[in-house]
Amino acid sequence: MTEKQYGGVTGRKTGESSIKNSEKFNKKNNIDNNALGRRRGSRALSRDIIPEVNLKNPSEGASEALASDFARQTLQTQNERGRELGGAESKISNQQKILKAGKIASEVKEYAKTIIKKQMPLLEIAEKIENKIRELGGKPAFPVNTSINEIAAHYTPSVNDSSIAYGLLKVDLGVHIDGWIADTAIPFDLENSEQNEKLIQASKDALENAIELVSKKIFKKEILTTGEIGKKIQETIESKGFSPIINLSGHQIEQYNLHAGLTIPNIDNKSTEIISPGSYAIEPFVTNGNGKIKDGKPSGIYMLTNPRTPRTPIAREVLNYISEEYQTLPFCSRWIHKKFGAKTLFALKQLEENGSLHQFPQLVESSNSKVAQTEHTILIDDGKVIVTTR
Ligand code: CO
Repeated sequence: MTEKQYGGVTGRKTGESSIKNSEKFNKKNNIDNNALGRRRGSRALSRDIIPEVNLKNPSEGASEALASDFARQTLQTQNERGRELGGAESKISNQQKILKAGKIASEVKEYAKTIIKKQMPLLEIAEKIENKIRELGGKPAFPVNTSINEIAAHYTPSVNDSSIAYGLLKVDLGVHIDGWIADTAIPFDLENSEQNEKLIQASKDALENAIELVSKKIFKKEILTTGEIGKKIQETIESKGFSPIINLSGHQIEQYNLHAGLTIPNIDNKSTEIISPGSYAIEPFVTNGNGKIKDGKPSGIYMLTNPRTPRTPIAREVLNYISEEYQTLPFCSRWIHKKFGAKTLFALKQLEENGSLHQFPQLVESSNSKVAQTEHTILIDDGKVIVTTR
């Protein structure tokens, strides 16, 4: 998934207040006061494991604290969750989880290439891909995005979606294992269009050139800024006669935090923020339009931001389920509908209105021109860059 910039500010909804409210919520509802205590007690444990990949925590506060809370909870239930990974692998390290999530994402991408055909229902595409992720031992890190033509991102089929695949389709999928995420996207030309192919190729070349730049500089232990990556992406795309989307960007990734810390721009925004060890999604968006994204219709993709107790029991039930099942990762109304049925929309609406949830808008190219996107997740370790989703 991508990150939208709102006049220099990102569209992310994290922050200290939401952490405080989250704890307040937990206390008020007596959900896991004890669990919180236990999590605090086991903080050292999760800390011990994290330095293995030297994941950078730029904001030693908000998002990190939240992620760590979940990390602690995760560690306690590791044995249960380990079943999905197979007994022998239940003690695998966080770095191995990042790599495994990447490998699953890569395999699922290959699978997607074999099943996706023109006129296939988008609902079928999304569900088959999400099921494949589970079958291979991961969980979807967010609902599969199936965005067509001028919709650049954040379209996921609704529960009764009747749309079919056509045109320039971007499939953006995420896999997580215990919150360690791989985020990757591939474009498809479903109408044998030369223009689509050129847009697709430009996004692929921009991604490859960006990865090459990162690899070279990290290998030589040179300083690398996010602005330099954006410059490489922009230059590549413009050399093909197209425009990058200026207000969509890649992002740093931390455990249970899809859009963490740094953003990776698709233009030379002159940012001097320095890339350090950790996971990053790089995702060039290319268009033959004016290169700017506007908000479209509500997407039905949500994320827990600032949990507050809702008025009705069903909304409370849905909120508890979300906190438990998705934590701070994006989910969609389709998934909630599966679990709770028709009352879903009412509960989600209430939770959105009381500020517990943020609903992502669809992201549409403002001149309604076609958009291609290609995305990989990379893991930067000491002097080394691994493309986890290759
Ligand atoms: Co992404």
